[in-house]
Amino acid sequence: NETVLLGRGGSDTSAAYFAAMLSAQRLEIWTDVPGMFSADPRIVPAARLLKQLHYDEAQEIASTGGLVLHPRCIGPLRNAQIPLFVRCTPRPELPGTLIANLKTDPEPSVKAISLRQNITLISMDGVVMWQEVGFLANVFAVFSDHGVSIDLVSTSESNVTVSIDGEAGPDSEDDLRALIEALSEYCRVKLIRNCAAVSLVGRKIRAHLHKIGPSLSVFEEHQVHLLSQAANDLNLTVVVDEAQGYRLVQQLHPSVIGKRANDDMLGDSWESLNASPDQTSVVEPSWWRDRRDALLKIMSTRSNCYVYDAATIKARMASLQGLSNIDNVLFAMKANSNPEILNLVYEAGLGFECVSPGELERVFGLFPDLDPKRVLYTPNFAPAEDYVAGFTRGVRVTLDNLFPLRAWPEVFKGQDVFVRLDPGKGRGHHEHVRTAGVHSKFGVPLFELPLLETLVSSVGCRVVGIHAHSGSGITEPGSWRQVAEILVDASARFPDVSVLDLGGGLGVPEKPGDASLDLQAFDESLSALKTRYPALSLWLEPGRFLVAESGVLLSRVTQTKGKGAVQYVGLSTGMNSLIRPALYGAYHEIVNLTQLDQPADQAVTIVGPICETGDTLGADRLMPSTSSGDVILIANTGAYGYVMASHYNLRAPAEELLLQSD
Ligand code: LLP
Repeated sequence: NETVLLGRGGSDTSAAYFAAMLSAQRLEIWTDVPGMFSADPRIVPAARLLKQLHYDEAQEIASTGGLVLHPRCIGPLRNAQIPLFVRCTPRPELPGTLIANLKTDPEPSVKAISLRQNITLISMDGVVMWQEVGFLANVFAVFSDHGVSIDLVSTSESNVTVSIDGEAGPDSEDDLRALIEALSEYCRVKLIRNCAAVSLVGRKIRAHLHKIGPSLSVFEEHQVHLLSQAANDLNLTVVVDEAQGYRLVQQLHPSVIGKRANDDMLGDSWESLNASPDQTSVVEPSWWRDRRDALLKIMSTRSNCYVYDAATIKARMASLQGLSNIDNVLFAMKANSNPEILNLVYEAGLGFECVSPGELERVFGLFPDLDPKRVLYTPNFAPAEDYVAGFTRGVRVTLDNLFPLRAWPEVFKGQDVFVRLDPGKGRGHHEHVRTAGVHSKFGVPLFELPLLETLVSSVGCRVVGIHAHSGSGITEPGSWRQVAEILVDASARFPDVSVLDLGGGLGVPEKPGDASLDLQAFDESLSALKTRYPALSLWLEPGRFLVAESGVLLSRVTQTKGKGAVQYVGLSTGMNSLIRPALYGAYHEIVNLTQLDQPADQAVTIVGPICETGDTLGADRLMPSTSSGDVILIANTGAYGYVMASHYNLRAPAEELLLQSD
């Protein structure tokens, strides 16, 4: 007869035990979210509500990173066969998630993609293991003696790799060291820290591996440390570097779950459940939907055209200029060097980041009165005359190798320079665009800093800015802070440094439902550093972020064809205008602008006219019935589109046009 307040974190498990003891007919858990989702909606706003789950699946989702229920609360309910209804207190009209012993088991399918961070792997190597009785028993006994719980296991004849969860792992570094020491008696031990485990969860996962086959191509870009297919056939887990975890979930979700229609099991997306009429949706509607008529009119006299929306570029520039911890924004004009776009940038007062004499000529040709100090010039593996060209113009010059100082000291004598460092870890949407780390040709490695210091003083130049750009297409808001910390440390060696240039790389959502870079979180991540070092100016030099979403490539359908199971839609331009899909496997949303209102219900592959199999702009896309003459729109092509175009096959790429605001 006592009233007891159940603490946070334990109420669902307690409720499950009460329900079991009372032989309840059902248990309802009222919480603050609409139910369980196919992914963490903070990572994937397009995550779908899971309307029904089998106990086993709910248990698996809860244990592999789902946050709604504690994994321990499912057991008592499963044993007593009591259905659990997860419902949403502020939205009682929503169906929520039913967890029960579902009799009807529809087609097996992946129900969720979950993510666990802070995973440590222990890799145990040794030939002694081969045909050796008791090796596993010995090493597992060591884990047990040290009170460490093992999660995933993968074995071969000469290696056993296990994962330990950050939370259930050793209590301290000393405990971890003791564990490693004890294991070393049996084998060579390697520790791989800072990993993330990404799990595809669903019953009978083995039975539908073939369906997720194409989605697994995303692993091409990620180093996989461990792959484990659970013995209970409920999950397939891949362990990758922690920094890749979010992105992997975002990449896998659309192809594994995103496109499936609503049914008894899958419900609406988090995004649509949270969008109310008086609230703007999380995802900004694309400008080109509103300007459809204007775009079709442009195409009435053309076969292909890149069209850019001035208003979008202005909005993106304003959003970066509004950041409180960034002092200067330069446009990396390699992303788009269209003169009218450069004019918008000039008018808005941003600087320019140039990488070649050609880019310098373009900006100074357009804006002869441009203050050269608004230009940062970063040649890479360039000849001496490129540096001379920069100093002659009076722009700020960045050095990204020690070679020029050693080989051409006279060019740098008495000059102020920026130095581009390699922060050691590359990031970005594809290996070709990760511009740091040992495999990248860019930047002075940190271990060369003492040498740089000596060379700078012997040559007689001053380092006034330190710079790093670790890659392109990054959506993790904390990445730049990590780079900034490295630059701050390096700046201690050079008393004249007043600028830290954190590079570009700000990512934009690629696929519908991808999360955008959280600019506020980005800004906040830099505020402590900014307070600590008020005298240092923080600069950014984005390309993609400012222009990617402003651009669309429009092209007319030439021919269509059905070949085996594949339906092709042919366009009058292809990789000669847009090479990103062929070069990086990049995804661009593709719609039939002429038939925009029709349901997209046919899977087609969109190709160009170039004599290469790689001339594919999008494979397996849903489109309405498409005819020759229709106008197809390829979205998000304002960055690295026209600038990377070619005349391959002697086919001229699409021309460019800027659409001014209404
Ligand atoms: N700063 C430096 C030193 C860079 O190398 C780059 C891009 C940027 C700034 C601008 O990066 P953004 O903000 O645009 O991510 N063609 C590839 C992108 C290559 C980026 C090369 N460097 C693509 O289409 O994804």
